[in-house]
Amino acid sequence: DRAARPDRPVLAVDQGTSGTKALVVCPERGVIGAGSAPVRPRHLPGGLVEVDPAELFDSVVAAGRAALADAGEPVAAVGLANQGETVLAWDPETGEPLTDAVVWQDRRAAPLCDELAEYAEELRHLTGLPLDPYFAAPKMMWIRRHRTRRGAVTTSDAWLVHRLTGAFVTDAATAGRTQLLDLDTVAWSPRALDLFGLADEPLPRVVDAAGPVGTTTAFGPELPLTGLLVDQQAALLAQDVTEPGGAKCTYGTGAFLLAPTGDRPRRGGSGLVSCVAWRLDGRSSYCLDGQVYTAASAVRWLSELGVIGGASDLDPVGGSVPDAGGVTFVPALAGLAAPWWRGDVRGSLTGLGLDTAPGHVVRALCEGIAAQVVQLADAVAADLGAPLRSLRVDGGLTRSALLMQTQADLLQLPVEVAELPDATALGAAAVARIGLDPTLTPRDVVPRRGRATVYEPRIGADGAALRLDRFREAVAALVERSPA
Ligand code: G3P
Repeated sequence: DRAARPDRPVLAVDQGTSGTKALVVCPERGVIGAGSAPVRPRHLPGGLVEVDPAELFDSVVAAGRAALADAGEPVAAVGLANQGETVLAWDPETGEPLTDAVVWQDRRAAPLCDELAEYAEELRHLTGLPLDPYFAAPKMMWIRRHRTRRGAVTTSDAWLVHRLTGAFVTDAATAGRTQLLDLDTVAWSPRALDLFGLADEPLPRVVDAAGPVGTTTAFGPELPLTGLLVDQQAALLAQDVTEPGGAKCTYGTGAFLLAPTGDRPRRGGSGLVSCVAWRLDGRSSYCLDGQVYTAASAVRWLSELGVIGGASDLDPVGGSVPDAGGVTFVPALAGLAAPWWRGDVRGSLTGLGLDTAPGHVVRALCEGIAAQVVQLADAVAADLGAPLRSLRVDGGLTRSALLMQTQADLLQLPVEVAELPDATALGAAAVARIGLDPTLTPRDVVPRRGRATVYEPRIGADGAALRLDRFREAVAALVERSPA
């Protein structure tokens, strides 16, 4: 069957928070087609973030079809990356959603986490995850308690895959974002299920990232779905970070720093998440993971206020002033994740004067995002007992030279920007190819590294420390103001 040859291009779909991107990726020629479709989550009072599940599915189909049309040639298989901790209830008989999807940024399950506080340490040890409404299980518990007892309640990938193929599965790394997966056995944990009141739920089968799941005609021709991976882990795979001291950060709706820890989980004391990177051929690889909840969504917020017109304004507007002019921005617009785990905290913008210009606020935002990434890098270094040596970065916001230079300056390390920002989709393509040909390894299928743009620090360690201290003081003030 010519169409199923593993050297044929594959369609990779990255279903993200604010949109779906699809690429047609050829082993020899790289990206030969691209498509995208927006998704519009609703930001409601009280930290609620919801999205219509139909919008998620329609965006997958629209982006996938657009990429195939752009490429104009057949593909052998499909790979799907998903946003991780977004949850909905749906009817396994009909595939119809029973609720809106509760997005990963949503804080509604915070009171349920408070109820379970006495089990937080046990859950952290069992699953590698701190007890926080960011993860899927508290949201699943909320849906069961407040919305419906019908159907299945799962992460969005399981629903999308069911809509596409009829299979009821989730990949091990996405399952690891629920707080229901045993980190050591990589199987659903009866104890965690019990604690969240989810013991009797129908659960998707936990599968490897690569392997045939079923077939779909959603993109036109009948195609096998052979790759499934949660988005940040997909980007980690594509970034090919294998050296000790390496990590990747993806600047999407949020920013996520992941560092591989090999074939064993590392349960560190620095507040990072310890989780499955991917499971291939029954063998799990692990990573440490830290989150900045608002990156591009903070840029969008600034745009909605009218301070800038959009992300492409970051550099010209920020470049119109030499520095942040004494402004400090903690862009915790959806709370603080690792290493603080204070989802209740809200952002702050301080040091404003009559002379404050939009450029100062833009620079302060870039510093605020970059300073949180430095916190995560420091936590990784502490947990692994060795400093980071470089950071590979991807995602839409890496197009901002101002943000990337700020990141290199505050991190005091070179920041290597991937040639293609869409590492997540490339990771989905990689697992789809392994799914077609199990003799392939990640090494064989990761994209060849093109010319990376490298940002070297331009300020000294003292200057970086000064700015980081200012940021940390601003965070401390917020945390003090709203005691946990
Ligand atoms: O954990 C949520 C995260 O994976 C979503 O990624 O690209 O939509 O910001 P993104």
